[in-house]
Amino acid sequence: MEIVSTIREMCSISDELRKGGKTIVLVPTMGYFHEGHLSLMGEGRKRGDVLVVSLFVNPTQFGEGEDYEVYPRDFSRDKSLAEGTGVDILFVPTMEEMYPEGYQTFVEVERLTESMEGRFRPTHFRGVTTVVAKLFNIVRPHIAIFGEKDFQQLVVIRWMVEDLNMGVEIIGMPILRERDGLAMSSRNQYLTPDQRKAALSLNHSLQKAFQLFRSGERNPRRIIDAVKRVIEVEGEVTIDYVEIRDARTLEEIEIIEDQAIIALAAKVGKVRLIDNVILREG
Ligand code: PAF
Repeated sequence: MEIVSTIREMCSISDELRKGGKTIVLVPTMGYFHEGHLSLMGEGRKRGDVLVVSLFVNPTQFGEGEDYEVYPRDFSRDKSLAEGTGVDILFVPTMEEMYPEGYQTFVEVERLTESMEGRFRPTHFRGVTTVVAKLFNIVRPHIAIFGEKDFQQLVVIRWMVEDLNMGVEIIGMPILRERDGLAMSSRNQYLTPDQRKAALSLNHSLQKAFQLFRSGERNPRRIIDAVKRVIEVEGEVTIDYVEIRDARTLEEIEIIEDQAIIALAAKVGKVRLIDNVILREG
């Protein structure tokens, strides 16, 4: 596995690969890998000739008072996990390379980013789309892979790629869960044992939503109320939002037709977690 830390070197490698007719797959990450990241890499390995994983804790997607400074980092562990998963190039740009002095250009997807996560983290998606656009320009992948845990992020990125004619195929990969159902996240490691137990209510509440959907409930309001009731039993969990929306456009819906996404965010102590499930037949 090659470690590349300059944009100039990454661009010239990508140019050569493209000239040689190789298919480049990119898995963008902020590091501190868990099984979820490794599953994205495993999929990437299958889909292309050259697998590039970027590792950059992107400051522009963290709002004021969020956890940028303390976001977990462990480069040597990440390096060996990536190597073990068959990554060809680990792209680890520095902050000065990505956002040099005088940097002032941002990419913003409008309506889609106003609701759900965007309501609680108003500058978040602008940072995500900016860094992902930059990574696409530097790595020039044919395919890029993202996890469905950040479902709104995935939809926003698909929209950006379409609107800006970026020509990158976007693949979404299902959420991986711990044995007890907690969605895998680099932030889970902040949870105390009691908080971790309380956090299971998020998955339990989504299971409840799924059961209701399976038994024929199609009214989003009634499903959301049932989900909130499951979570609210846990005193330590504070809900930011629970929403059911069209899974492609993230528009609000009056009634669930063929498929929808139920997504939620909640704070367990100080740790903010997100989770979701797709409600669809079959
Ligand atoms: O999902 C993430 O880890 C980040 O938002 C991403 C896509 C790597 C951009 O920094």
